[in-house]
Amino acid sequence: MAELPAIKKRMIEQGVDVIDVGAGDADFPPPEVAVTALNRALQDPAMSRYAFQLGLPAFREAAAAYMERRFGVTVDPYKELHPILGSKEGIAHLASAVLNPGDVAIVPVPGYAVYHGGTVLCDAEPYPYILTPQTDFLLELDEIPADVLKKAKLVYLNYPNNPTAAVAPRDYLERTIAACRKHDLLLAYDNPYCEITFDGYVAPSIFEIPGAMEVVVEFHSLSKSFCMTGWRLGWAVGRPDRIAALARVKNYIDTGAFLAVQAAGAEVLQQAERIAAGYAAKFKERRDGILPVLRANGFEVETPRATLYVWVPLPEGLASAAFQKRALEDVGVVTLPGSAFGAGADGFFRIALTVPTPRLIEATERLGKVLATV
Ligand SMILES: Cc1ncc(COP(=O)(O)O)c(C=O)c1O
Repeated sequence: MAELPAIKKRMIEQGVDVIDVGAGDADFPPPEVAVTALNRALQDPAMSRYAFQLGLPAFREAAAAYMERRFGVTVDPYKELHPILGSKEGIAHLASAVLNPGDVAIVPVPGYAVYHGGTVLCDAEPYPYILTPQTDFLLELDEIPADVLKKAKLVYLNYPNNPTAAVAPRDYLERTIAACRKHDLLLAYDNPYCEITFDGYVAPSIFEIPGAMEVVVEFHSLSKSFCMTGWRLGWAVGRPDRIAALARVKNYIDTGAFLAVQAAGAEVLQQAERIAAGYAAKFKERRDGILPVLRANGFEVETPRATLYVWVPLPEGLASAAFQKRALEDVGVVTLPGSAFGAGADGFFRIALTVPTPRLIEATERLGKVLATV
């Protein structure tokens, strides 16, 4: 994945009409309110100072107000919530805050690479749990061997899910919280896609489940739901001691997100539901545009109820990396192979709804030609 931008640049220089549906980084402009607020904040010299871990109080308060309004979850903006430089940064550093060498972290596969990476960077041991379509891509803690659960300190979960687009039913979240309490596990609940949902599905915060505050740190981000990937802003929510531990690690590593970006983030969050609904409608339009074309080209896809991804199964025996290589080299389409999401996630590839529908359709038709010849 890290090499893809350079490969893509080389191909474009060679005159290839590359369609990139790889990274989860949509082409929609950021919210107007964010741009206006950033411009305004830039005029204020105080915004150019260090943010430190406190950050901009208005951002903390806007994030807490959103949690309350949207999920009915009341949090102290100063003790139970912390600004982060995008959820990637917060997730990676939570591992440093809670894992010691030799500890085990339960990592869903396929899954966002930072769960594995954050774990190994602390000399802790990832325990991969393979998510399968047979169990709706849910990670069931009770299926994990007792000796692993005994050594495990942390489990990562992400619903709505990247890359599978799976969503978590409420009863699943309830039994997961119960299992975390039973096994004394901290749950890192990664929730950057909670506003990108379709067909009436509304994604929860895990804090809607009673008892969650005892065992969860939840991560939110402005990247996906508000199309602000490059702005690097999000927030973590959890029990005060856990938030303090995360802040302590961060204090040695970063000095806070740019205050002007936090000012813009605060204004976005004040209108979060309206802004996010606008983007979700656009992603839905793209989803609805591409699904029939995928099916007509031989790809047997489910209809995703959330996220900006379509997780596409490949015919039995076809390696996803080999398919991705052919897609890139033969027809100029950048996708992500299942294998990029961990060993054991082969047999699928991911399409991100990050380009306009006509380009998605063109990409799908090209992928169909590859499928017909493999
Ligand atoms: C599941 C998941 N978590 C976290 C992130 C990180 O997002 P950011 O650091 O931009 O907030 C991503 C980005 O792709 C993701 O897919």
